[in-house]
Amino acid sequence: MEKFSDWRDKGTGIAPFLPPSVASISVAGKVGYTVLSVLKIILVSPLVVVYVLSGSKIVFGIIALILFDWQVDVTVQGVKRRLVDKREHYPHGDAVYVCNSSSAVDAHVLDSIANGESQFLVARDNQLYRMNKSQYMQFALDGSLDVKRYGKEIHSVEKCPDQVTFIFAEGTCSNGKTVLPFEIDDNHLAEALEPLGSNLAVQVIHLKINASLTTPLKVSKWEFISRAIVNGVHVKVKIYEPQALKPLERLRVVMNDGNKFKLVSKTLNVEAKRKFVEEYEKR
Ligand SMILES: *[C@@H]1O[C@H](CO)[C@@H](O)[C@H](O)[C@H]1NC(C)=O
Ligand SMILES: *[C@@H]1O[C@H](CO)[C@@H](O)[C@H](O)[C@H]1NC(C)=O
Ligand SMILES: *[C@@H]1O[C@H](CO)[C@@H](O)[C@H](O)[C@H]1NC(C)=O
Repeated sequence: MEKFSDWRDKGTGIAPFLPPSVASISVAGKVGYTVLSVLKIILVSPLVVVYVLSGSKIVFGIIALILFDWQVDVTVQGVKRRLVDKREHYPHGDAVYVCNSSSAVDAHVLDSIANGESQFLVARDNQLYRMNKSQYMQFALDGSLDVKRYGKEIHSVEKCPDQVTFIFAEGTCSNGKTVLPFEIDDNHLAEALEPLGSNLAVQVIHLKINASLTTPLKVSKWEFISRAIVNGVHVKVKIYEPQALKPLERLRVVMNDGNKFKLVSKTLNVEAKRKFVEEYEKR
């Protein structure tokens, strides 16, 4: 691993692109999981057909629960758990949400709690690329570098009250140990969001997922699905209070649990990740 020290942050010691080391499973365990997975897949296949035809979030939730023991635990800053009202506090069309990015399931998790249809904007070189949840998943499984292949470049965000907008400002997945430098600056983001009005609420959403499901590097779909079956998909989502868009760097600190000392330096950006991947694949 010494070779990769160039991509370990000097200040914090964090190496944000190193993939998780996933514990290997015994042969007996593999056989057990395979049998269990096949049974589960047979059980849910009629529901998958219903989901493909209807796109229903409820059906998605049932499938995910059966296959992955799907649990999304949402906390809303400043609101007591029993007073949380999904319509009011869960993501809706009157705000935009800036989220951290580390797993191929990020978009599905966010979509499952959104009040309405969701769109995901991935920042890169001061531009935004629009994806839906399945495009984001493919983008992340493919190593989250090729934004042009999966997203469509947009210059401004259309106002549409039924649409919930999530922004992945880091532009690529990390391994969840920190928040990467943002790929878009204050002015470019403000300009893209201008059609949404000048007193637009911006809220940070912080996702936390089991490390084995982070996808800083490319992972095959089946490998990812089997990790999700073995570990279960248990996600903690924290929705922060609305705040001003500028300065964006403050949102980055909030996203990192308010801990600015555990943010990696600006040099560990998408370009650095690209070089890391080249070296890593040579290994
Ligand atoms: C996402 O977009 C792609 C490409 O436009 C489309 O084929 C796919 O059906 C969309 N998926 C969802 C879940 O909306
Ligand atoms: C999001 O950032 C927080 C703070 O750095 C981190 O704890 C969390 O693991 C990240 N999210 C995911 C999905 O890994
Ligand atoms: C991730 O899942 C594995 C297997 O269930 C578990 O042993 C581990 O503690 C989990 N890690 C975290 C950070 O929750």
